[in-house]
Amino acid sequence: MLPAETFMKQTLSLVPAAREITLTYPRKASSPVEIYVIERDAPHPNARTYVYLDPYTGEALRFEPYATSSVGNRIYRWLGSLHTGNVGGLPVQLLLFAGILGVPVLAYTGIRSYLRRKFIAREDVRGLQARVKTISSETSEIKVFELHSANRVPLPAFTPGAHIDVWIDEDLVRQYSLCNGSDEKNRYVIAVKREPDSRGGSRAMHERIAEGDLLSISTPRNHFPLDLSATHHLLLAGGIGITPLLSMARELQKLNASFALQYFARSVGYTAFHGFLSRPEFRGKVSFHYALEVDALRLYLHKLLWHRSPGAHLYVCGPRPFMDLVEEIATASWPPQTIHAEYFNANPMAYAGARAPFEVTLALSGGTYSVSADKTIVQALEGRGIEIPTSCEQGVCGTCVTGLLDGEADHRDAFLTDAERRAGDKIMPCVSRAKSKLLVLDL
Ligand code: FES
Repeated sequence: MLPAETFMKQTLSLVPAAREITLTYPRKASSPVEIYVIERDAPHPNARTYVYLDPYTGEALRFEPYATSSVGNRIYRWLGSLHTGNVGGLPVQLLLFAGILGVPVLAYTGIRSYLRRKFIAREDVRGLQARVKTISSETSEIKVFELHSANRVPLPAFTPGAHIDVWIDEDLVRQYSLCNGSDEKNRYVIAVKREPDSRGGSRAMHERIAEGDLLSISTPRNHFPLDLSATHHLLLAGGIGITPLLSMARELQKLNASFALQYFARSVGYTAFHGFLSRPEFRGKVSFHYALEVDALRLYLHKLLWHRSPGAHLYVCGPRPFMDLVEEIATASWPPQTIHAEYFNANPMAYAGARAPFEVTLALSGGTYSVSADKTIVQALEGRGIEIPTSCEQGVCGTCVTGLLDGEADHRDAFLTDAERRAGDKIMPCVSRAKSKLLVLDL
């Protein structure tokens, strides 16, 4: 092959204004010498003119000036210069630098998001992340879970009587009352009784949840609030129904308000928070009743409730038969607005009362469907292939909350607050029905 000087001279004869010449000898004897040239007036450092020479004779085999190359080639070369930061000056170099930084940032956020999805409990619009700080046994069947914020986001404040939803699993959500003081800003405390006929919730809480675990929880909601305008508060707790009333008792004690807590349980051994409620500050305000037979309980409640002091309010929480009995007896002398009840697993309003058929129109997806007397809105729509997410199907958890655009709802849930019902723009379609002939849903 000829010496490089010969190829340089030949190249300069073709491109006299060359500023930079790069020459590559062929690897194969049959290939040409490949030369690219950057001219003095080149628009950017990657605007290459190509020259291909015969390695033995120096004859020009191909000559491709940059100026006459295809538009595609010129764009490609320009992008090359852009990529290497040779055009656009400092702003483009800064942009490229930011782009380079983007690689580790995207890698970090991608890996983080993967880990969150895989190992961190589900976040949703209502969700908070809580870490189980401690678990202790109050009785042989009641465990107390102390939950702290898992991500330094402060826990929202709550009022006595509030509850939270706890996602034990992706599809397993349960409601638990907060039983600590509402002035404790850093933690939520819930107590869970292991139910012998558990549908999975209490068993999972007892067997699968351990200290250090992460749980998705909702922000606290309260449809069992204290009415602080009352002159006296009578709190009746049956078994695990103590939980919301415990928070109320703490609050009333702190406010120095007039109250009495009557706590009905099987025995001392089955009485959660017995030690706490036996403290001197509760003396004369808290009474324990053990192993009362139904007749004895009825008699006692008659004596307790027949007279209502003016301005007094009654709060009850416990097993369904206990609550039914209290309400049955109390209605004789307590006006309805003074009786407050907290239902969780059994919401008596859900399936009580008249059930007339009605229609629902879906504003977004279109279509009007009939809801027969023996079906809920959820069931009626499910039969037409339209699914509304549900969990408790008793109107207590809030999973199925749906926007109501028109029509009057017959609210049968225990989830919406009175103010939300008055606003009339939400409905719980797992239990609630219609007072009007038609409901228009935001679906
Ligand atoms: Fe729980 Fe409707 S599914 S309130």
